[in-house]
Amino acid sequence: MASEASGNVNLIPSLPLQDRVAIVTGASPNLVSSEINSASSPTTPQAIVAQADVSEPTQVKSLFDKAEEVFNSPVHILVNSAGVTDPKLPSIANTSLEDFDRIFSVNARGAFLCCKEAANRLKHGGGGRIVLVSSSLVSSLKPGIAAYTASKAAVETMTKILAKELKGTGITANCIAPGPIATEMFFAGRNEEYVKRVIDDCPLGRLGRPRIWHRWWGF
Ligand SMILES: NC(=O)c1ccc[n+]([C@@H]2O[C@H](COP(=O)([O-])OP(=O)(O)OC[C@H]3O[C@@H](n4cnc5c(N)ncnc54)[C@H](OP(=O)(O)O)[C@@H]3O)[C@@H](O)[C@H]2O)c1
Repeated sequence: MASEASGNVNLIPSLPLQDRVAIVTGASPNLVSSEINSASSPTTPQAIVAQADVSEPTQVKSLFDKAEEVFNSPVHILVNSAGVTDPKLPSIANTSLEDFDRIFSVNARGAFLCCKEAANRLKHGGGGRIVLVSSSLVSSLKPGIAAYTASKAAVETMTKILAKELKGTGITANCIAPGPIATEMFFAGRNEEYVKRVIDDCPLGRLGRPRIWHRWWGF
Protein backbone atom coordinates (compact mmCIF):
# COMPACT_ATOMS: atom_id res chain seq x y z
CA MET A 1 0.00 0.00 0.00
CA ALA A 2 1.41 3.43 -0.82
CA SER A 3 0.33 7.02 -0.41
CA GLU A 4 1.15 10.00 -2.63
CA ALA A 5 2.64 13.09 -0.94
CA SER A 6 4.07 16.08 -2.84
CA GLY A 7 4.67 13.91 -5.88
CA ASN A 8 6.68 11.35 -3.88
CA VAL A 9 5.43 7.86 -3.13
CA ASN A 10 5.86 7.18 0.61
CA LEU A 11 5.66 3.55 1.63
CA ILE A 12 3.92 2.97 4.94
CA PRO A 13 6.79 1.97 7.25
CA SER A 14 6.92 -1.75 7.91
CA LEU A 15 7.33 -3.09 11.45
CA PRO A 16 10.91 -3.70 12.62
CA LEU A 17 12.07 -7.29 12.22
CA GLN A 18 14.23 -7.35 15.36
CA ASP A 19 13.24 -10.19 17.73
CA ARG A 20 10.66 -11.47 15.27
CA VAL A 21 10.83 -14.91 13.72
CA ALA A 22 9.96 -15.31 10.05
CA ILE A 23 9.59 -18.39 7.88
CA VAL A 24 10.22 -17.80 4.17
CA THR A 25 9.54 -20.75 1.89
CA GLY A 26 11.21 -20.97 -1.55
CA ALA A 27 13.08 -17.88 -2.77
CA SER A 28 16.71 -19.11 -2.99
CA PRO A 29 16.98 -19.91 0.73
CA ASN A 30 20.77 -20.32 0.79
CA LEU A 31 21.23 -16.89 -0.74
CA VAL A 32 18.74 -15.20 1.61
CA SER A 33 20.24 -16.89 4.66
CA SER A 34 23.87 -16.05 3.84
CA GLU A 35 22.89 -12.43 3.11
CA ILE A 36 21.10 -12.08 6.45
CA ASN A 37 23.86 -13.80 8.41
CA SER A 38 26.63 -11.76 6.82
CA ALA A 39 24.85 -8.61 8.01
CA SER A 40 24.54 -9.81 11.63
CA SER A 41 26.90 -10.64 14.47
CA PRO A 42 29.08 -13.70 13.73
CA THR A 43 28.24 -15.32 17.07
CA THR A 44 24.45 -15.05 16.68
CA PRO A 45 23.22 -16.50 13.41
CA GLN A 46 19.99 -14.82 12.46
CA ALA A 47 18.88 -17.11 9.65
CA ILE A 48 18.94 -20.85 9.11
CA VAL A 49 18.01 -23.01 6.16
CA ALA A 50 15.61 -25.91 6.69
CA GLN A 51 14.44 -28.30 4.02
CA ALA A 52 10.72 -29.00 3.75
CA ASP A 53 8.24 -29.96 1.08
CA VAL A 54 5.34 -27.51 1.51
CA SER A 55 2.89 -30.02 0.04
CA GLU A 56 3.54 -32.43 2.96
CA PRO A 57 1.68 -31.58 6.19
CA THR A 58 4.21 -33.24 8.50
CA GLN A 59 7.10 -31.37 6.85
CA VAL A 60 5.28 -28.03 7.16
CA LYS A 61 4.68 -28.74 10.86
CA SER A 62 8.37 -29.65 11.29
CA LEU A 63 9.36 -26.38 9.64
CA PHE A 64 7.43 -24.39 12.27
CA ASP A 65 8.75 -26.67 15.06
CA LYS A 66 12.31 -26.09 13.88
CA ALA A 67 11.92 -22.29 13.71
CA GLU A 68 10.35 -22.18 17.20
CA GLU A 69 13.05 -24.43 18.62
CA VAL A 70 16.08 -22.71 17.06
CA PHE A 71 14.92 -19.18 17.86
CA ASN A 72 13.18 -20.11 21.11
CA SER A 73 10.16 -18.04 20.14
CA PRO A 74 6.80 -18.38 18.42
CA VAL A 75 6.82 -17.55 14.71
CA HIS A 76 5.59 -14.04 13.85
CA ILE A 77 5.78 -14.01 10.05
CA LEU A 78 5.17 -16.45 7.21
CA VAL A 79 6.14 -15.64 3.63
CA ASN A 80 5.08 -18.49 1.38
CA SER A 81 6.95 -18.09 -1.87
CA ALA A 82 7.52 -21.75 -2.76
CA GLY A 83 6.00 -22.44 -6.13
CA VAL A 84 6.35 -24.43 -9.33
CA THR A 85 5.30 -23.98 -12.91
CA ASP A 86 5.98 -25.69 -16.21
CA PRO A 87 7.15 -23.64 -19.19
CA LYS A 88 5.52 -26.10 -21.57
CA LEU A 89 2.03 -26.03 -20.09
CA PRO A 90 -0.32 -26.35 -23.07
CA SER A 91 -4.04 -25.62 -23.42
CA ILE A 92 -6.43 -27.13 -20.86
CA ALA A 93 -7.43 -29.71 -23.47
CA ASN A 94 -3.84 -30.95 -23.58
CA THR A 95 -2.75 -30.53 -19.95
CA SER A 96 -2.07 -33.86 -18.28
CA LEU A 97 -3.68 -34.67 -14.94
CA GLU A 98 -0.18 -35.35 -13.56
CA ASP A 99 0.97 -31.81 -14.43
CA PHE A 100 -2.22 -30.31 -13.00
CA ASP A 101 -1.84 -32.28 -9.73
CA ARG A 102 1.88 -31.51 -9.41
CA ILE A 103 1.34 -27.76 -9.78
CA PHE A 104 -1.69 -27.67 -7.48
CA SER A 105 0.06 -29.80 -4.90
CA VAL A 106 2.84 -27.23 -4.38
CA ASN A 107 1.11 -23.94 -5.23
CA ALA A 108 -2.41 -24.45 -3.80
CA ARG A 109 -2.07 -27.36 -1.33
CA GLY A 110 1.32 -26.03 -0.16
CA ALA A 111 -0.13 -22.55 0.39
CA PHE A 112 -3.09 -24.07 2.24
CA LEU A 113 -0.87 -26.15 4.54
CA CYS A 114 1.43 -23.20 5.30
CA CYS A 115 -1.56 -20.88 5.95
CA LYS A 116 -3.23 -23.50 8.16
CA GLU A 117 -0.09 -23.94 10.25
CA ALA A 118 0.51 -20.18 10.42
CA ALA A 119 -3.10 -19.45 11.41
CA ASN A 120 -2.76 -21.90 14.31
CA ARG A 121 0.75 -20.98 15.40
CA LEU A 122 1.59 -17.36 14.61
CA LYS A 123 1.80 -15.21 17.71
CA HIS A 124 -1.50 -13.41 18.34
CA GLY A 125 -1.78 -9.86 19.62
CA GLY A 126 -0.29 -7.73 16.89
CA GLY A 127 2.46 -7.76 14.33
CA GLY A 128 1.73 -11.21 12.87
CA ARG A 129 2.10 -11.26 9.11
CA ILE A 130 1.21 -13.83 6.45
CA VAL A 131 2.31 -13.04 2.90
CA LEU A 132 1.54 -15.29 -0.04
CA VAL A 133 2.68 -15.09 -3.65
CA SER A 134 0.26 -15.17 -6.55
CA SER A 135 0.91 -14.01 -10.13
CA SER A 136 -0.24 -11.23 -12.45
CA LEU A 137 -1.45 -14.08 -14.70
CA VAL A 138 -4.53 -14.33 -12.47
CA SER A 139 -5.57 -10.93 -13.86
CA SER A 140 -4.23 -11.26 -17.41
CA LEU A 141 -5.67 -14.77 -17.89
CA LYS A 142 -3.36 -15.76 -20.76
CA PRO A 143 -4.31 -18.93 -22.63
CA GLY A 144 -1.95 -21.88 -22.25
CA ILE A 145 -1.00 -21.82 -18.56
CA ALA A 146 -4.31 -22.56 -16.88
CA ALA A 147 -3.10 -25.05 -14.24
CA TYR A 148 -0.53 -22.58 -12.86
CA THR A 149 -2.89 -19.58 -13.12
CA ALA A 150 -5.77 -21.44 -11.46
CA SER A 151 -3.47 -22.58 -8.62
CA LYS A 152 -2.50 -18.95 -8.00
CA ALA A 153 -6.16 -17.86 -8.15
CA ALA A 154 -6.76 -20.37 -5.34
CA VAL A 155 -3.93 -18.73 -3.37
CA GLU A 156 -5.51 -15.28 -3.78
CA THR A 157 -8.93 -16.55 -2.68
CA MET A 158 -7.47 -18.31 0.37
CA THR A 159 -5.60 -15.14 1.35
CA LYS A 160 -8.75 -13.01 1.30
CA ILE A 161 -10.72 -15.52 3.37
CA LEU A 162 -7.83 -16.03 5.80
CA ALA A 163 -7.55 -12.28 6.38
CA LYS A 164 -11.21 -12.24 7.46
CA GLU A 165 -10.82 -15.35 9.60
CA LEU A 166 -7.88 -13.78 11.43
CA LYS A 167 -9.90 -10.71 12.43
CA GLY A 168 -9.08 -9.79 16.03
CA THR A 169 -5.76 -11.67 16.18
CA GLY A 170 -3.61 -8.74 15.03
CA ILE A 171 -2.32 -10.98 12.20
CA THR A 172 -2.72 -9.74 8.63
CA ALA A 173 -2.84 -11.87 5.48
CA ASN A 174 -1.79 -10.39 2.16
CA CYS A 175 -0.88 -11.62 -1.27
CA ILE A 176 1.44 -10.12 -3.88
CA ALA A 177 0.87 -10.82 -7.57
CA PRO A 178 4.10 -10.07 -9.46
CA GLY A 179 4.47 -9.78 -13.21
CA PRO A 180 7.40 -11.57 -14.88
CA ILE A 181 10.57 -11.54 -12.73
CA ALA A 182 14.03 -12.54 -13.95
CA THR A 183 14.36 -15.65 -11.77
CA GLU A 184 15.31 -19.25 -12.54
CA MET A 185 11.63 -20.13 -12.77
CA PHE A 186 11.02 -17.49 -15.42
CA PHE A 187 13.93 -18.49 -17.69
CA ALA A 188 13.73 -22.29 -17.26
CA GLY A 189 12.81 -23.87 -20.58
CA ARG A 190 11.99 -20.54 -22.27
CA ASN A 191 13.61 -19.46 -25.54
CA GLU A 192 14.83 -15.96 -26.45
CA GLU A 193 11.80 -15.23 -28.58
CA TYR A 194 9.44 -15.94 -25.65
CA VAL A 195 11.51 -13.78 -23.28
CA LYS A 196 11.51 -10.89 -25.79
CA ARG A 197 7.74 -11.15 -26.26
CA VAL A 198 7.16 -11.01 -22.50
CA ILE A 199 9.51 -8.02 -22.11
CA ASP A 200 7.68 -6.21 -24.94
CA ASP A 201 4.43 -6.68 -23.00
CA CYS A 202 5.91 -5.19 -19.78
CA PRO A 203 4.95 -1.56 -19.12
CA LEU A 204 8.54 -0.86 -17.94
CA GLY A 205 10.03 -2.60 -20.98
CA ARG A 206 12.02 -4.99 -18.78
CA LEU A 207 11.58 -7.91 -16.40
CA GLY A 208 11.23 -7.40 -12.65
CA ARG A 209 14.49 -7.68 -10.68
CA PRO A 210 14.68 -10.60 -8.24
CA ARG A 211 16.59 -8.74 -5.53
CA ILE A 212 14.12 -5.87 -5.54
CA TRP A 213 10.88 -7.85 -5.71
CA HIS A 214 11.56 -9.38 -2.28
CA ARG A 215 11.02 -5.89 -0.82
CA TRP A 216 7.38 -6.12 -1.90
CA TRP A 217 6.95 -8.77 0.77
CA GLY A 218 7.43 -6.04 3.41
CA PHE A 219 3.89 -6.06 4.71
N1 LIG B 1 9.48 -15.48 -11.62
C1 LIG B 1 8.34 -14.97 -12.00
O1 LIG B 1 8.20 -14.42 -13.13
C2 LIG B 1 7.13 -15.04 -11.09
C3 LIG B 1 6.03 -14.22 -11.40
C4 LIG B 1 4.91 -14.27 -10.57
C5 LIG B 1 4.91 -15.09 -9.46
N2 LIG B 1 5.97 -15.89 -9.19
C6 LIG B 1 5.90 -16.73 -7.99
O2 LIG B 1 6.93 -16.32 -7.12
C7 LIG B 1 7.33 -17.41 -6.28
C8 LIG B 1 8.85 -17.55 -6.35
O3 LIG B 1 9.18 -17.89 -7.67
P1 LIG B 1 10.63 -17.70 -8.32
O4 LIG B 1 10.45 -17.04 -9.61
O5 LIG B 1 11.57 -17.14 -7.29
O6 LIG B 1 10.92 -19.22 -8.66
P2 LIG B 1 12.13 -20.17 -8.29
O7 LIG B 1 13.40 -19.45 -8.44
O8 LIG B 1 11.89 -21.43 -9.06
O9 LIG B 1 11.82 -20.42 -6.74
C9 LIG B 1 10.79 -21.27 -6.34
C10 LIG B 1 11.19 -21.85 -5.02
O10 LIG B 1 10.16 -22.76 -4.57
C11 LIG B 1 10.81 -23.90 -4.06
N3 LIG B 1 9.91 -25.06 -4.10
C12 LIG B 1 9.42 -25.70 -5.19
N4 LIG B 1 8.65 -26.75 -4.81
C13 LIG B 1 8.68 -26.77 -3.45
C14 LIG B 1 8.09 -27.60 -2.48
N5 LIG B 1 7.30 -28.64 -2.81
N6 LIG B 1 8.34 -27.34 -1.16
C15 LIG B 1 9.13 -26.30 -0.80
N7 LIG B 1 9.71 -25.46 -1.70
C16 LIG B 1 9.48 -25.70 -3.00
C17 LIG B 1 12.02 -24.09 -4.93
O11 LIG B 1 12.96 -24.88 -4.25
P3 LIG B 1 13.88 -25.90 -5.11
O12 LIG B 1 14.64 -25.04 -6.06
O13 LIG B 1 14.70 -26.55 -4.05
O14 LIG B 1 12.92 -26.80 -5.80
C18 LIG B 1 12.50 -22.65 -5.10
O15 LIG B 1 13.33 -22.27 -4.02
C19 LIG B 1 6.58 -18.62 -6.82
O16 LIG B 1 5.45 -18.86 -6.00
C20 LIG B 1 6.15 -18.20 -8.23
O17 LIG B 1 4.99 -18.88 -8.64
C21 LIG B 1 7.10 -15.87 -9.97
